[in-house]
Amino acid sequence: MTVSADRFRDVLGRLAGGVCVVTARDPDGGPRGLTATAVCSVSLEPPLVLACLAGDSRTHRAIDVSGHYAVNFLGAGDRELAKRFAGDEEDKFSGLEPTAGRTGAPLLAAALGYCDCVVIDRVVAGDHTVFIGRVEAAGTVAATRASGSASPLLRYRGSYATVSQAVEMEEKAPGDGA
Ligand SMILES: Cc1cc2nc3c(=O)[nH]c(=O)nc-3n(C[C@H](O)[C@H](O)[C@H](O)COP(=O)(O)O)c2cc1C
Repeated sequence: MTVSADRFRDVLGRLAGGVCVVTARDPDGGPRGLTATAVCSVSLEPPLVLACLAGDSRTHRAIDVSGHYAVNFLGAGDRELAKRFAGDEEDKFSGLEPTAGRTGAPLLAAALGYCDCVVIDRVVAGDHTVFIGRVEAAGTVAATRASGSASPLLRYRGSYATVSQAVEMEEKAPGDGA
């Protein structure tokens, strides 16, 4: 027997995730992007970062075809951006004017940091694909300049949160001990 979906969600919700927007260019040049927490540093030499995307997302298709992606790390002042990129609007970049990274992937001015990657491997895992990217370029900006907040944006227990809000949530409603 495996764990139920509810249990899986509840437990994995306790793994605080940095909220990112993973972006790529469609074959027609249009920008694509989605909000993601399944992003992770993989290797230092060479520098590798992975992003895990649902097979049915539009951004997955853009990465699959273009062979590149950028990971943009959001600050706590950018909840609205996180919500926008988690939605299914056709033009999520309206009013944002992203710049093009070295690979061509869109970079968001609001991000605290970014990694611009070329896909070197991909592994289909369940209903997602793990894209492993070699980092071709990376950068940071001061948190206060990026989003007006010196704090990263987290996803914790199903909500967007700052680090201190995540601590408060855990103090108010700790785990069930099971
Ligand atoms: C906090 C949060 C984290 C998410 N993390 C991921 C993720 O790591 N991978 C993924 O494929 N989708 C993730 N999603 C869902 C996508 O953002 C969502 O399905 C999006 O609408 C897909 O957009 P697209 O079809 O334009 O690519 C997440 C959603 C939220 C709200």
